[in-house]
Amino acid sequence: IQIKSLRGDTGGLITLDPGYKNTGSCESAITFLNGEEGILRYRGYAIEELADNASFLEVAYLLIFGELPTQQQLDKLYADIKRESNVDEEMKKILDGFPKSAHPMGVLSSLTSALIAFNPSAVNVDSEEDMYNAIIKLLAKFPVLVAWTLRKRQGQPLDYGDSSLGYVENILKMMFKKPSENYEVDPVVASALNKLLILHADHEQNCSTSTVRIVGSSHAGLFASISAGISALWGPLHGGANQAVIEMLEGIKQDGGDTKKYMKKAKDKNDPFRLMGFGHRVYKNFDPRAKIIKKSADEVLGKLGVQDPVLDIAKGLEKEALEDSYFVDRKLYPNVDFYSGIIYRALGIPTEMFTVMFALGRLPGWIAQWREMRLKKEPIGRPRQVYTGENLRSFKPMSNR
Ligand code: ACO
Repeated sequence: IQIKSLRGDTGGLITLDPGYKNTGSCESAITFLNGEEGILRYRGYAIEELADNASFLEVAYLLIFGELPTQQQLDKLYADIKRESNVDEEMKKILDGFPKSAHPMGVLSSLTSALIAFNPSAVNVDSEEDMYNAIIKLLAKFPVLVAWTLRKRQGQPLDYGDSSLGYVENILKMMFKKPSENYEVDPVVASALNKLLILHADHEQNCSTSTVRIVGSSHAGLFASISAGISALWGPLHGGANQAVIEMLEGIKQDGGDTKKYMKKAKDKNDPFRLMGFGHRVYKNFDPRAKIIKKSADEVLGKLGVQDPVLDIAKGLEKEALEDSYFVDRKLYPNVDFYSGIIYRALGIPTEMFTVMFALGRLPGWIAQWREMRLKKEPIGRPRQVYTGENLRSFKPMSNR
């Protein structure tokens, strides 16, 4: 759009692309995504291979630093994380200020932001070493905040976990250990969570990641940028869809399980109902993560001996959608969130915590994108607009309005 022709501007050329459907915001070497063919790779490695073979911490290292770690590099990373895993006791007072009913995403975003007050050195990152230290602090403290968020909601005392365990196993123990219980991490649960976290770890310039990059571009600091990313992820059109999917499936079940009725609603343009967990801005083919998660849902539920009728409803909806011209024509396939909630549920994670689990998985991706943006010294993010308001007019006194 030629700005000269628009009211009140000074000249220059502007592209107008609401929702950034065709606008790249940066160059990035982290995640490759081909939505037409359903390909997703982190730093060149296929998501399928990483999900089958890697640990979440290895993938975090890969995303943030660019290469798979050697054993020595991985050991150092985890040792550094363990050293930083304490969270200031004063933070508990902030957590106490929330009602139990507060949504965990709001609590997590606030706590992540509050961390800045207790770790001021993590704000100004002028060197790679400063950056590394801020990153370690966050990788260490974030799981503690996640666990606290759940425990607060459940009225459980807060816990710091067990540094003899692996990163993912420790997260489970911090979340679920009851005071009087000798909690043993179930390897089936740990392996399923490991896979889910890897599948969520990065997804190039999605809404929350773009938020992290744009907030970070003002040099607001890593914790503030991540806190903003958490808020962006919360929405039901983004990460909040995993909670919305289970609520939708539950609703369909309680309504008698008539999937056809809901398919009809989803296609009715006068009905705001959407089939949650379907569709994606970039994937116009199967979301490769959804394929892996669907298979994993069958395996995990089988191994844990859980029978969940909503899995059957989900499969029924998927089958109908794949044969329905509305969904086929619009290339609407199940996305990562369609089956993930069913696994989270089988692992004993409450529904309102699903998006928090997504945030836990996405953390390394957000960090990697923030680090890349800072190392490349990207300019402050500042989109333009096309002004459509009034031309200059005279002030009207109150008596004339
Ligand atoms: N159910 C019914 N119709 C849908 C759905 C859906 N889930 N998703 C898209 N459509 C329809 C739209 O109504 C539109 O139809 P039209 O062309 O007749 O107007 C067409 O498909 C294109 O949809 P848009 O909303 O324009 O696509 P956009 O790329 O802007 O949105 C989004 C993508 C937000 C993911 C959308 O598909 C959606 O709302 N899905 C449900 C929520 C969801 O699952 N979000 C999680 C995404 S994955 C993630 O963030 C981790």
